[in-house]
Amino acid sequence: MKHVLGLRCIACRKEHALRRVPSTCPACGGNLQVVYDYRAIRKRLDRRALARDGDRSLWRYRAALPVGDSCLRPVPQVGWTPLYEAPRLAGSLGLRRLLIKDDGRNPSASFKDRANAVVLARALQLKVKVVTTASTGNAASSLACLAAGLPLQTVIFVPEAAPEAKLAQLLVFGATVLAVRGTYDDAFDLCARAAARYGWYNRSTGINPFTREGKKTGAYELCEQMGWEVPDLVFVPVGDGNIISGMWKGFVELRELGVTERLPRLVAVQAEGSAAVARAVADDGIIRPVSGKTVADSISVSLPRDGQAAVQAVRESGGFAVAVSDAEILAAIPELARGANVFAEPAAAAAWAGLKKAAAAGRAGPRTSAALLVTGSGLKDVASARRSVGAPLRVGPDLESLQRLVRKLRI
Ligand SMILES: Cc1ncc(COP(=O)(O)O)c(C=O)c1O
Ligand SMILES: [Zn+2]
Repeated sequence: MKHVLGLRCIACRKEHALRRVPSTCPACGGNLQVVYDYRAIRKRLDRRALARDGDRSLWRYRAALPVGDSCLRPVPQVGWTPLYEAPRLAGSLGLRRLLIKDDGRNPSASFKDRANAVVLARALQLKVKVVTTASTGNAASSLACLAAGLPLQTVIFVPEAAPEAKLAQLLVFGATVLAVRGTYDDAFDLCARAAARYGWYNRSTGINPFTREGKKTGAYELCEQMGWEVPDLVFVPVGDGNIISGMWKGFVELRELGVTERLPRLVAVQAEGSAAVARAVADDGIIRPVSGKTVADSISVSLPRDGQAAVQAVRESGGFAVAVSDAEILAAIPELARGANVFAEPAAAAAWAGLKKAAAAGRAGPRTSAALLVTGSGLKDVASARRSVGAPLRVGPDLESLQRLVRKLRI
């Protein structure tokens, strides 16, 4: 791991040695991020080397990841998810181009698989016995999915209101699941205390700098699948802010490595009731807690755990933030499904709601190429999806009943 130089605090910029147990900056409590020797990485990662690489997973970017080449890895294939052109949706908003990155197509059906693939490779390297995390649901179900069969245990803290599908995934994959009577924020604090008391490896967002490393591969992939072009705007659903800051790190690194030539502007999309990052971006940059109430459970966060990094990412990119209502989020689910064939969970559909709002405000137009990061599958939360559409038509089990209906429908 000669290419890894250490860790840098995103708040005070102090550098620290890579530590065994992940935690925050000893000097100021800020979140840490991995620092690399990009000259060393450049020798192994360029457009030509990638074109020759037959690996169709996030490990094709292993030269820029903080684990050794020969490290043990979780088995499921993470990454290299589809990137779709969406000309109908682009046309409906008058955009030049719209691309949709469907990360619901990962093994546990969310973007979080990218983070956990890297975190677990690191945990295996360190031979830890127990990995723990707090999660709104997806980070945990992903951890459970990728950890099944590995020589370690997972202990998961989720808010008791997490959607059924996510809880089912956790239990099916064999994690020890603790449903906390409280919010995600309560689960987060309890998990941190448990990790400190029992010496468990804490993968919770913000605390573990390796999650951002896995997430940055979303940016690498997006650009590679665009033939190393970079979109003008990238719309990212934001809760804690770790995905958007990871994506930003990816875009910045690609340019640093000389693989791409420019940077996109990032748009943080939040739910109105959970818009701490959006408020900070519009105001003084300081994160203040909000209620966190929204139908989009994955981005329901009172105090974003990587909020400062998210604000930095949006500001450094020259981007902006958008807050969308629950009604707009629910309406976005069938629009995205019918317009681009992608079934997204509410948090992920928020990206499309955010783009619509940005276009209506004149922030995206006929010269804009935009990309949406669809971070989770609609099958994660069918109850919310059902709220966004009508009921099926009822028909008797005979051809006459059907005939009456067909006539009424004029099919
Ligand atoms: C589907 C989905 N979208 C978006 C997010 C937001 O990511 P972050 O909390 O890193 O901002 C999450 C996080 O749980 C998620 O599961
Ligand atoms: Zn610091």
